[in-house]
Amino acid sequence: MFQNFSQDFASYKDTSFINLNNGTLGLCPSVVIDQQKAELEIFEKNTSSGYGDAWARLWRIQQGLGDFLNANPRDLFLRPNVTLALNEIIMGLNLPANSEILTNTFEYGAVVNILKHKCQRDDLSLRSEDFSALYDCSTDEAVVEVILKAVSAKTRMLLISHVFTGNGLIVPLAKLARELRKRNILLVVDGAHAPGLLKLDFKQEIHEVDFYAGNLHKWFMGPKGTAFGWVHPDHQSTLNPQYGSWTMSENVPANMASFAPPGEFASRMLWSHSQSFTAYYGLEAALSYWTHHKADVIRQQIQVRMKYLKDSLADAGIFALVNNYNSAFLCYNVGEFPHAQFQGIFLKDTPLQVGLPRLPGAQILRLTPHIHNTQEELSKAVQILKDHRTGLSKV
Ligand SMILES: Cc1ncc(COP(=O)(O)O)c(C=O)c1O
Repeated sequence: MFQNFSQDFASYKDTSFINLNNGTLGLCPSVVIDQQKAELEIFEKNTSSGYGDAWARLWRIQQGLGDFLNANPRDLFLRPNVTLALNEIIMGLNLPANSEILTNTFEYGAVVNILKHKCQRDDLSLRSEDFSALYDCSTDEAVVEVILKAVSAKTRMLLISHVFTGNGLIVPLAKLARELRKRNILLVVDGAHAPGLLKLDFKQEIHEVDFYAGNLHKWFMGPKGTAFGWVHPDHQSTLNPQYGSWTMSENVPANMASFAPPGEFASRMLWSHSQSFTAYYGLEAALSYWTHHKADVIRQQIQVRMKYLKDSLADAGIFALVNNYNSAFLCYNVGEFPHAQFQGIFLKDTPLQVGLPRLPGAQILRLTPHIHNTQEELSKAVQILKDHRTGLSKV
C-alpha cells in the first residue's frame, strides 16, 4: 500500500516534473532544508562561537549516525560525499609492493579514477573484470563465486559497490567479506547507494567488511554534502589520514577534545579546520525524520514504488536488467524503449526525468523512485514509458 509523504516535501519539491532520478541525489524532506537555512543564519550571528563550539555537537551527530547504521561512532568519519570518503580509504591504506587491486566494469567512473591514481602513485597494478556473469546468478553463493573467480594470487584489495549504480544488483557483502578474509584480500566497498535503501548493520551483518563508504545525500535524504566512511577496527591504526588538521595527534585543542577521544581514529579523521557545518547539522533533522517515520517503513515504501514500476512495466513486456537476483532499483536497457529520445535526462517532450548511467556497451535507463513520489506520478511515468516502447506517443 502506498503511503503518501507529499506533505513532508511540499515546501521545496518542484511538482512540474516527475523526478525518478533520486539515485543521483535525493530530495530532502522540508524539515531538513529548513534546519540548514536556520543553521546558516545562526552561524553568521557569531562566526567564532559557530566554529569553536561545533565539536561536541558534531560528535552527537556522529553518534546518531552510528545508531542509524548500527555502527560504533568511533569507527566512522564524516565527509561531504562518498568520493572523498573513498579517497581517504583507498589513498590511505597500505598495500604490499606489486599488489594488484581488483575491480570490475560496473563501477562508477570517479571511483575507478581513485584506483588509477592510487596505482600510479604506489606503483600497483589495477585489473577490471567484466562481471556480466552476475546477471545469470540467482543465489548469494553464485554471486560470490563469480567475484572470487576473478581474484588472482596477486590481488590484495577488491573495490566493489554494495549496489551497482548501473543495474541495482546488491552484492552479498557478508558472505563475500568472509571469503576474502580467508584469502587475505582487503574488501573496500563503495556504498554510495546503500544508506537509506538497505538496512545496514556494521556491528553484525557486515562487520567483516574492511572499509566502507556511504552517501547520505542520496537515499538517506540527508543534506547535499553529507557522507561517511567506516573502517574496521583492525585497520584504523594503519590508515593514513589524507589531511593534516588540528586533531591529527593526541595533543588537540580543548574544545575539539569534546569530539571523539584525542588520538583515537575518529578524532584523527575529523576535519577540524574551518568549514561550514550547515550540512552536517541538517543530519539532525534527517535522522529525526527516519526515527519518526520508522526506517523500516521508509525502506518498505521505497520498495512499494519500485515494485509498482517493475510490475507495471513487466506487464507491458519490459523487463529489468537484474531479474534473477536481488536488485535495489530498476535499470533497463534503453533499447527496451525504441521510441525514446532524450533532452538531458528527460524523456523528450515529457515531464519524466530518469537516470541514464552507462554500462560497458550499453546505455541504461534507470528508475529510482523515492517516498516523495506519489502513485499518480508513477502511473503517469509508466504510461510515458509504455508509449515510448510502442511508439504511441508523438515525440
Ligand atoms: C556507485 C557510485 N559511487 C560513487 C558515486 C559518487 O557519489 P558522490 O558524487 O556523492 O561522491 C556515485 C554517484 O552517483 C555512485 O553511483
